[in-house]
Amino acid sequence: QRPVHRLLSYPGTVAADLRREEQPAGSAETGSEDRTPKKRFCEVQNERREQAQRTVLIHCPSKISEKRFLKYLSQHGPINNHFFYESFGLYAVVEFHQKESVASLQSVTRTPSLGAEAAIPFRSRYFSLKLKNPSNQTSGQPSVQCSNQSSPASRKLFDLLCCAENVDDQLNTLTKELQLTEENTRLRHLTCSLIEDVAAAYFPDCAIRPFGSSVNSFGKLGCDLDMFLDLDDIGKFSAHKASGNFLMEFQVKNVPSERIASQKILSVIGECLDHFGPGCVGVQKILNARCPLVRFSHQASGFQCDLTTNNRKIGDRLEAQFRLLCRVVGLDAYSPDRFWIALRSSELLYIYGALDSRVRALVFTVRCWARAHSLTSSIPGAWITNFSLTIMVIFFLQRRSPPILPTLDYLKTLADAEDKCIIEGHNCTFVRDLNKIKPSGNTETLELLLKEFFEYFGNFAFNKNSINIRQGKEQNKPESSPLHIQNPFETSLNISKNVSQSQLQKFIDLARESAWILHQEDKGHPSPSGNQPWGLAALLLPSVANGVSLAKKKKPASERIKNLLESIKSGPENSTNTNGKR
Ligand code: CTP
Ligand code: MG
Repeated sequence: QRPVHRLLSYPGTVAADLRREEQPAGSAETGSEDRTPKKRFCEVQNERREQAQRTVLIHCPSKISEKRFLKYLSQHGPINNHFFYESFGLYAVVEFHQKESVASLQSVTRTPSLGAEAAIPFRSRYFSLKLKNPSNQTSGQPSVQCSNQSSPASRKLFDLLCCAENVDDQLNTLTKELQLTEENTRLRHLTCSLIEDVAAAYFPDCAIRPFGSSVNSFGKLGCDLDMFLDLDDIGKFSAHKASGNFLMEFQVKNVPSERIASQKILSVIGECLDHFGPGCVGVQKILNARCPLVRFSHQASGFQCDLTTNNRKIGDRLEAQFRLLCRVVGLDAYSPDRFWIALRSSELLYIYGALDSRVRALVFTVRCWARAHSLTSSIPGAWITNFSLTIMVIFFLQRRSPPILPTLDYLKTLADAEDKCIIEGHNCTFVRDLNKIKPSGNTETLELLLKEFFEYFGNFAFNKNSINIRQGKEQNKPESSPLHIQNPFETSLNISKNVSQSQLQKFIDLARESAWILHQEDKGHPSPSGNQPWGLAALLLPSVANGVSLAKKKKPASERIKNLLESIKSGPENSTNTNGKR
């Protein structure tokens, strides 16, 4: 017997990415159980990367005939897919069927003459389409339909939440409205691919790989684009070439450490993006950070980009052992994919997000709730991060009875030989094939889970316990940071080391207040008049609804709420029987 939550189909992009069989673009969701085997993370990423390499970005005149535009471009080869969007002008993303079409288009494209200014003649895949005779082409043109790249305004979201049927419906609506769309996902991979073209001027075999929320299935429209310059392929050579008596190595410059190498590489790529990169603005080189990075805005796509490079390689000793082992069993000496720890976390979150539709709904809701109350911020500081919140939700779902999500150690036991992955001595092994993981038998509603999430963390012994998704158990805190969340792979690290006691206290107070609101009967269900915020709307948008934020409202103190909650639960009409309630 399969639990009811497995019957929900995956919405939007995640659905498209998870399905093994290609479906026509824009095909409607069926709402029925998806029985097709699910794709692995690396399959999805490789497909998206290849797709982006056949894709171009075109700045268009504001009025354009879609039909003529497509006819003009089809001279270079068949087009698989296209869409338009607005961002300080009209842009088109066009995916050709073949890569050659891009070269063909580039061959007929000229570098503009800019009058008094001079152009840097960089031939990218970001074009500008001009009308030869603007006056007679633009008149009477209907405007093209644009795909939306930003999240809905708070007011619209608030109204949608108030119109929902129940709290579960609210959480699913929120997820649907905030998640990355198919078009936004394409645009993210295209942006990486365009940056890769710039980096390839120095490192022809490099790859720019997105990681973090752009690919882990928890990305919200407008989230930053984390990218990673992968130079690893450059050192790659086949077993065939390595055979014989000799071994050829490149003469290279040596620097004292991997970190200095990263700084030097990022410094020149940063310069390149700043000076030659079309559409790259506000380039900042943040090279002295723990993890050196280049931050910039990609103006045409509107993404805030953080570019890092690989400073984490498979340790040399391990690599040597691995190579030896491969030689003994007669395999190609180099593993086709080497994963870095952040990329592994992205993959792990992707797997957790794909296992049960309640996971993403709850993560989106908690992230959105935290943002609404300024628990998170786009500026780095002493606040909790989205990544930490996601791990907290995963941990909470591992603690349910029966568990909704398996522990990381369990995912490791399902791994086979080819899933094995050790990075710098850290065991990053877990099963990659989603189809091997059995669905949970837990049928709790999202309403109950949200309520219990707030209660669980409202009462969590943060002073002595650490959150650990590897074992799915509370552990004694190994150090005194206010909030301790073990890094799933680098187990000696705390991913929330930055969080201050006061920020943690704010989180606890808000969690208790939110549990309290959800427990109040009149706030938990649609109001009869239809215009009172209820359920998630009451939690999420108090500033819209009341003009004051939840934390600032005059309410019983945190401790009193905790006691009130306890008295409700132990009272005759206790709400612990809400299991399965709609
Ligand atoms: N990461 C990590 N340890 C941290 C912070 C980040 O391993 N202490 C990794 C995670 O894989 C994370 C990625 O770096 O997903 C990107 O970090 P960040 O941009 O902060 O988080 P996102 O998950 O991308 O979320 P957001 O939507 O806030 O950008
Ligand atoms: Mg990010």
